[in-house]
Amino acid sequence: MIVLRLARIAAAAMLVGLGRSAKGDVAAIAPEITVVEEGYGVVVKMPCVGCPFLYQDTSLGEDAEWRERSDGNSLLLNISLPYDSAHITINNAPLYSGRQNLPLIYANQVLSDLSTSSLTEIIASGQLEATNQLTTSGGGSFGLSYRQTLQDVTTSQGASGLEVKVFHFDVFGLYSDLTTPPTKYPMDRKEQKILEILLLQRPLLSAADPAPTYEILSAKLIPRPHARPATQRTMHFLSWD
Ligand SMILES: *[C@@H]1O[C@H](CO)[C@@H](O)[C@H](O)[C@H]1NC(C)=O
Repeated sequence: MIVLRLARIAAAAMLVGLGRSAKGDVAAIAPEITVVEEGYGVVVKMPCVGCPFLYQDTSLGEDAEWRERSDGNSLLLNISLPYDSAHITINNAPLYSGRQNLPLIYANQVLSDLSTSSLTEIIASGQLEATNQLTTSGGGSFGLSYRQTLQDVTTSQGASGLEVKVFHFDVFGLYSDLTTPPTKYPMDRKEQKILEILLLQRPLLSAADPAPTYEILSAKLIPRPHARPATQRTMHFLSWD
């Protein structure tokens, strides 16, 4: 029964995913949410409101200086869940892995009108990994200041014993030393959205399962909430240690 219900939830989530990418294809602009692996991997193109776009005029050679210009741009976030444990990775940095400190997270920047086919190429080449510079986009790479929360959601699923959790990832600042002096930007515009991910606990297959594991039920960008839950944790990029 549970398996059937999960299959239905997965199918519904997939339809949402397909609907979005289909729309993206028509406009040829990559969607904000791309499901890379149903339940386990999502690439998010998060519009970075008012953020400076960093670029290098490569006609001046490989080592041309990085400069800033204003141009609609987005940050790329690769969110994935391993099959066998409860942590989340964002651009290869593990969250909730049992470590005390929040990790440094870097993100690449792309123009917001990045095409679906360019995004597909980026995903296929694994270029999102860690601090790699994207060769196809020309945008810079930034260290992120962020806030995160993970909270339980009460749902009718409760009866089956499966938990749903909501994860919020709020990027509120950027730092890059590609430019001289370094570029800093507070992402404090009212229109700036945050990422919300719903996680569904997977049924334990046997009593020997060490701990519950989760899958991604949905991912979307939502307005920044006003409330600051007690569980919120904050990472200021420049004061990391
Ligand atoms: C996304 O992250 C996962 C887990 O770290 C990794 O296996 C995958 O290659 C990454 N994808 C891209 C496009 O970088």
